[in-house]
Amino acid sequence: MPRRQRPPAGPVPISGRSVGRQAGPTRTDEGTITVSTTDTAQPTATDSGIFAIGGDLPVHRLGYGAMQITGPGVWGPPSDPDGAVQVLRRAVELGVNFIDTADSYGPYVSEELIAKALHPYPEDLVIATKAGLVRTGPSIWVPVGRPAYLRQEVEMSLRRLKLERIDLFQLHRIDPSTPVEDSLGELRALQQEGKIRHIGLSEVTVDQLAHARTIVDVVSVQNRYNLADRASEDVLVYAEREGLGFIPWFPVATGKLARPGGPLDSVATAHGATPAQLALAWLLRRSPVMLPIPGTKSVTHLEENVAAADLILTDDEFAALEAAGR
Ligand SMILES: NC(=O)c1ccc[n+]([C@@H]2O[C@H](COP(=O)([O-])OP(=O)(O)OC[C@H]3O[C@@H](n4cnc5c(N)ncnc54)[C@H](OP(=O)(O)O)[C@@H]3O)[C@@H](O)[C@H]2O)c1
Repeated sequence: MPRRQRPPAGPVPISGRSVGRQAGPTRTDEGTITVSTTDTAQPTATDSGIFAIGGDLPVHRLGYGAMQITGPGVWGPPSDPDGAVQVLRRAVELGVNFIDTADSYGPYVSEELIAKALHPYPEDLVIATKAGLVRTGPSIWVPVGRPAYLRQEVEMSLRRLKLERIDLFQLHRIDPSTPVEDSLGELRALQQEGKIRHIGLSEVTVDQLAHARTIVDVVSVQNRYNLADRASEDVLVYAEREGLGFIPWFPVATGKLARPGGPLDSVATAHGATPAQLALAWLLRRSPVMLPIPGTKSVTHLEENVAAADLILTDDEFAALEAAGR
């Protein structure tokens, strides 16, 4: 697979926090993870470049989404909790320093596993969590944005994640039965109290995002977006223009593009890469504000996904995939 070192990406200057990692894992007394050089064949998330969330939280752009380390229907514990811990630790070993989770994943299971696997956290690890969807059963998600509920969930996420402040707190959904001014107003109060560092949104339109920015400082948006689903293209364009992080969920979905003989298949064959890797490489190239968070409960898939960080598409390949996905 053709590879090269990517230059750091992202429109926001990087300062304040160390982001550099070499290759292979060691946990020091201070909880810092360095990577040994015994693993040179495995590319790391470092190769994906850097974006500074909110201007002061530099992360490697290829992150990890921790929704899949729960039970079926994102409900209850995973069938292999030790495997989930291994995936989280391997992600950090491979240079991932941006992990997305939510109170509702399990619920609570994902956040608890993150703390179990990774606390005390490496200094440069950014954990982004969310609240605003309650769970009443497997695969059931109900928006609740009442201020008292959001406050409780911030407090409980702090407790579960063993943090004093949440670096990026995302409103999981805008609750149609609660004024967004009330929901975001409570997050602003929590921010002023030092319990939240930055605020992000999830599954919003450009109008909702622009309106939210009149209420609070929004640093990121997390919408479904992938090679085969560009419904949020306008939100991405807005985020790019405004320097907000764009966190595409369901990033490895490639749909029918990956069919035998399809456009992904041929480019994948040319690179010796998998369709999932191409989907991630396409996202990383699509925009410097793109922060993909592929989720998996498998170390093999994790390593495969991280390896996409230094898969470089030619201009023609990028254009062909761009066109095929429309
Ligand atoms: N804001 C929101 O509303 C929202 C909604 C959904 C998700 N999210 C976030 O976005 C993250 C990613 O979304 P997602 O988990 O729905 O989608 P995804 O990461 O695109 O895909 C996950 C699925 O793909 C499989 N997979 C992962 N890597 C693979 C590979 N290399 N080859 C083949 N299959 C692979 C996984 O199965 P295996 O486990 O078997 O690998 C899993 O079934 C979540 O973890 C969560 O943090 C946010």
